[in-house]
Amino acid sequence: MAIREIVTVPDPVLRRKAQKVTQFDEKLQTLIDDMIETMRQAPGVGLAAPQVGVLEQVIVVEYFEKEEDEEREDAENAPKRLYVVVNPEITRTSTETVSGPEGCLSIPGYMGEVERFQSITVKGQNRRGQPVTLKLKDWTARIFQHEIDHLNGILFTDRATKIWKPEAPVEDKV
Ligand code: NI
Repeated sequence: MAIREIVTVPDPVLRRKAQKVTQFDEKLQTLIDDMIETMRQAPGVGLAAPQVGVLEQVIVVEYFEKEEDEEREDAENAPKRLYVVVNPEITRTSTETVSGPEGCLSIPGYMGEVERFQSITVKGQNRRGQPVTLKLKDWTARIFQHEIDHLNGILFTDRATKIWKPEAPVEDKV
């Protein structure tokens, strides 16, 4: 495994559409392992392949199994769930939306207020090419919507109703 360089704005690769993955080969496995390591080292809670300069439809997300654990004093020890989704597609969205703060590893130093669907269903494939369906809500659903946007060349700043430069380092970047 290796840590890859995270591409930042205004690199044009962030504005291009990622291609569908058709080969679940060793090269894909290496990309996924590298993305997981890069996300953890950043640290971040999600990463899309275009953020490491690869225009393929691959995302990784790692977040608390129970979202309320983020508030725990020993949050470091709370169980997390790692998701690897290839060719992810949002197939259902809630009518309810929620506005919340987002940061992005590719836009260092900024945050934005972004409206997202409160819950979504994502279909795609796992790293071996088998079909997966995920029902996601709240912050996890927000992370997935942010990452899937990256696969379409969309950045949170395109959707933000407000953008600001926080004084403290941005947490939970994606
Ligand atoms: Ni991002």
